[in-house]
Amino acid sequence: MPSSTTLAPNQIERLLEAARAAQKRAHAPYSRFHVGAAVLDEQDRVHAGCNVENAAYPLGMCAEAGAIAALVANGGKRILALLVVGDGEGLVAPCGGCRQRLREFASADTPILVADRERVRERFTLEQLLPHGFGPENLLP
Ligand code: THU
Repeated sequence: MPSSTTLAPNQIERLLEAARAAQKRAHAPYSRFHVGAAVLDEQDRVHAGCNVENAAYPLGMCAEAGAIAALVANGGKRILALLVVGDGEGLVAPCGGCRQRLREFASADTPILVADRERVRERFTLEQLLPHGFGPENLLP
């Protein structure tokens, strides 16, 4: 299973740029909490997403889910890194549901970068955020 633990500075810069641009387009009139996310695929392409809320609150979608959907729609197969951008004092790390969404396309050592508008604040691996996760290998031979 391909994975990437080392990211080139230009890959991080491209992820940050794309996530920042998406964050600015977030549709978050209810929480007013704007989030952007970007994923790097196995062809070194970046796909971005933002949170899209809905007047029927539970239908709101996370930025990470949008970025993953864009990757799949554009023919990407694997997530080599994810970067998420959110505002505020606290770290904006992917929610539990999105950690599981990432598990489908990423590896244990896939870097998950948590950023604000200016810089990457923390770096985790998927395994750190979702230990002992349930994944495709549990179901597919
Ligand atoms: N949100 C994300 O898009 N990604 C995260 O990692 C955390 C939370 C969104 C969901 C909702 O639209 C808003 O942030 C407040 O929870």
